[in-house]
Amino acid sequence: MRRLGILISGRGSNFVAIADAIDAGRLDAEIAVVISNKAGAPGLDRARERGLNTAVLPVHDHLLIAELRRHQVDLVCLAGFMRILGHEFVAAFQGRILNIHPSLLPAFPGLHAQQQALRAGAKQSGCTVHFVDDGLDSGPIVKQASVPVLADDTVDTLSARILEQEHRLYPEAIGEVLATASQRQRA
Ligand code: GRF
Repeated sequence: MRRLGILISGRGSNFVAIADAIDAGRLDAEIAVVISNKAGAPGLDRARERGLNTAVLPVHDHLLIAELRRHQVDLVCLAGFMRILGHEFVAAFQGRILNIHPSLLPAFPGLHAQQQALRAGAKQSGCTVHFVDDGLDSGPIVKQASVPVLADDTVDTLSARILEQEHRLYPEAIGEVLATASQRQRA
């Protein structure tokens, strides 16, 4: 179990962090395909530059499931994928879908998590890698990293501090999930 299917909608910096970790030998996995629901996603160019398989697909559960199965994906990693997946998708990859969210869940789920943290006056925020279930940013937590929220933070400065941690956390969390899955397979 080590074939990753990565779903993006935009910049794709978390996807690049995962690909870098694989290339550096810090993550024992393989990117089987990078799928975007947006044709112009800059992350798609990064994937093509690396010679990876890419696809642009509308968010229809059965189309996404078929493409991921065609590439024999073991673990689906949402990386800035800005659409909610349906029940059919979640059921098809039950317990095998991860997401990264820029807050310390269960605090500040949904959109604009960094802005939510600033508005609430939180003194700490961070990021969370979690399994995806049918709810919004609500599945079991795999790993978290926290950062301080500073008095003069803006959405941009806080987002940048959190993003640095995201890039470290996501490859580590994927490695742990894959290791646990292969231990289970051997048992
Ligand atoms: C990240 O902040 C991630 O936590 C959130 O969307 C953003 C995606 O950034 N889900 P990128 O596309 O990986 O650069």
